[in-house]
Amino acid sequence: MFSILVLHGPNLNLLGKREPGIYGSSTLEDIVRLLEEEATYHKVTVSSLQSNHEGVLVDAIHAALGKHQGLLINAGAYTHTSVAIRDAIVAVNLPTVEVHLSNIYRREAFRHHSYIAPVAIGQISGFGADSYRLGLQALVNHLKERG
Ligand code: DQA
Repeated sequence: MFSILVLHGPNLNLLGKREPGIYGSSTLEDIVRLLEEEATYHKVTVSSLQSNHEGVLVDAIHAALGKHQGLLINAGAYTHTSVAIRDAIVAVNLPTVEVHLSNIYRREAFRHHSYIAPVAIGQISGFGADSYRLGLQALVNHLKERG
C-alpha cells in the first residue's frame, strides 16, 4: 500500500476564515478529511502536516524518505520563494504533485512563478479543495503506473 505525505504550508491553518472569496469555506480539517476519504477509496494512506515554518517543511520532506512513496504539497507562499523546499524535494527524489486552491496564474504576477513546479510531476491549481482530491488521484495513478 502506498503511503503519501501531504504538506500544507504557511497560513493554510486559517483556511475557512482566510480570504474565503479566494480560498473558499473549507477548513484545513475538512481538506484533511476529504483526503483521508479519497485515500481510502484508492487504497493508499495519507499523513498530513501543516506548518508555518519553512525548516519544518524541509525536515518533513527529508523524514519522508523510506517512509512515504509520494508527496502532495501546497507550499502556500513558499511556493513562490523557497529554493530550500524545492531542493529538499530534489534531494529525496520522491514523486511530487503541487496543488493550490486558487488559480495562481489568475492572480498577482508574484504568484505566477513556482520554484516547485519544475521539480514536480505536475501542478493542479484553481479548483479549491478539489485541487487536493485531484492531486492525490494524479499522484496515486502515477505511483501505480510506475509500479
Ligand atoms: C496558495 C496560493 C499561494 O499564492 C498563497 O500564498 C497561499 C495559498 C493556494 O492554495 O491557492 O498561501 O498556495
